[in-house]
Amino acid sequence: MSVVKILFCLLLTYHLNEGKKIKGNKAVDGEQRVVLRLNQPYVSSSVFRMFLEGEDNCTLDPLQLHTLTSCGFNSSNPIIIITHGWSLDGMMESWVLRLATTLKTNLIDVNVVITDWLSLANTHYPTAAQSTRTIGKDIAHLLQALQVHYQYPVRKVHLIGYSLGAHICGFAGSYLEGSEKIGRITGLDPAGPLFEGMSPTDRLSPDDAEFVDAIHTFTQKHLGLSLGIKQAVAHYDFYPNGGDFQPGCDLHSIYDHISQYGLLGFEQTVKCAHERSVHLFIDSVLNKDKQSMAYRCRDKRAFDKGVCLDCRKHRCNTLGYDIQKVRSGSGKRLFLNTRSHMPYKLYHYQFRIQFVNQMEGIEPSLTISLTGTKEESGDIPIIVTETISGNKTHTFLITLDRDLGDLMLLKLHWEGSVLWKNMWNRLQNFIPWGGRERKPLLTLGKISVKAGETQERTSFCALTNDGQRVEVSQDEVFVRCKDDTPKQHRRKLCRFRE
Ligand SMILES: *[C@@H]1O[C@H](CO)[C@@H](O)[C@H](O)[C@H]1NC(C)=O
Ligand SMILES: *[C@@H]1O[C@H](CO)[C@@H](O)[C@H](O)[C@H]1NC(C)=O
Ligand SMILES: *[C@@H]1O[C@H](CO)[C@@H](O)[C@H](O)[C@H]1NC(C)=O
Repeated sequence: MSVVKILFCLLLTYHLNEGKKIKGNKAVDGEQRVVLRLNQPYVSSSVFRMFLEGEDNCTLDPLQLHTLTSCGFNSSNPIIIITHGWSLDGMMESWVLRLATTLKTNLIDVNVVITDWLSLANTHYPTAAQSTRTIGKDIAHLLQALQVHYQYPVRKVHLIGYSLGAHICGFAGSYLEGSEKIGRITGLDPAGPLFEGMSPTDRLSPDDAEFVDAIHTFTQKHLGLSLGIKQAVAHYDFYPNGGDFQPGCDLHSIYDHISQYGLLGFEQTVKCAHERSVHLFIDSVLNKDKQSMAYRCRDKRAFDKGVCLDCRKHRCNTLGYDIQKVRSGSGKRLFLNTRSHMPYKLYHYQFRIQFVNQMEGIEPSLTISLTGTKEESGDIPIIVTETISGNKTHTFLITLDRDLGDLMLLKLHWEGSVLWKNMWNRLQNFIPWGGRERKPLLTLGKISVKAGETQERTSFCALTNDGQRVEVSQDEVFVRCKDDTPKQHRRKLCRFRE
């Protein structure tokens, strides 16, 4: 199906149904709870499949509990239930198998179950959205069967839901009877249309499990609607690359997708950013040594200025499977930048620099390069989003795909435009200290770099005594200041002394 067709279909169905949101079911909650009692016949709309080694699977029947053991269910192990979202073609999307395989092969001793609700998911979007409560109830029913017949504690349950599936997991949590809550729910780009702005009981929310995390990857509006929900719905909400869109998913990439997937490339491009949430999660299981770190921040703008790389008081956390399950209030919005392909991890650095020049606003084009004990960064252009005025400290965010180690050296390059040089000549008239060589100079105060991943801060000093000056079109080298011993080294020294 073409991009336009999909979006048009979404748009149309959205507008047709905008009035009748899915609230309606609330009144019958009481009734539905009764239905959940296990001694009554229960007709499940979903099929649950135990995922086995070698991509084999085995259908579970919650009413015939011997199927659980014969399917290889081991009640001493945790259970992960994967739930898909809206379906355009009635087929199980390929990521489901990929996620299941990744979990089964990388986490030892875990039961992986797939919820198949394709028959109800392959309808118009609003109809599928209406069904999320029904499927949630099916999952709650399965969990209660496990509780009653296996004394299986629901806190050992981790529900992972994609798009509409995320809200299904939320409803599963709210339909569950008893005081015990589901251990964890992970919402992978929870669906936006018909859920955005709804009350917490009508969508995934932090109340639905002991711990809820969500990854938002496609909240950008297209033709008036977005696929993913923008608002925070969890204890920790991750917004990779701001959450609205993802690198490698733009229309320029469509040719790559077509060569990879044939004509399905169009569809792949539409789903790309939405589905990125799944692949980020898979990445977190596959690449244990490259866990992506995210930082609490007000919004993307502030994050891009580099002011949010703070880890104190649980302000940062690991994206994906190995998240630190610390609950301290809900609605924490965490930001991070990622690469366009796996492993997605990027290292975040805050570059802080004080400009001493006393002059009217300039927009310098700066390039820096960092050298650490492990690697060199190469030249990184700094995007200056605001004009630099005199005697002010500016911060920038720099992201790199590798760890540089302890930072030792920083090289700054300033490219002044022709226009600037002309202005400089005029400035010479008012600034007496303007320089012996009549060349534009950028005078700098403090320069420091903070690594988000290690929380190490490094200050840089000029090599020579004649100050922190950068001449136009020339590299200026700064080194780690003499009194700036990295903490790690100090710790090592202590250990040696012991
Ligand atoms: C389960 O196995 C059947 C037959 O082997 C296969 O057709 C189906 O796609 C599998 N389903 C899942 C969810 O893996
Ligand atoms: C269940 O898993 C545990 C490990 O968590 C293992 O020791 C035990 O043998 C398994 N039981 C069965 C019946 O496979
Ligand atoms: C620049 O700011 C610092 C601290 O804010 C101040 O001490 C210093 O006098 C200022 N310098 C000029 C030239 O305004």
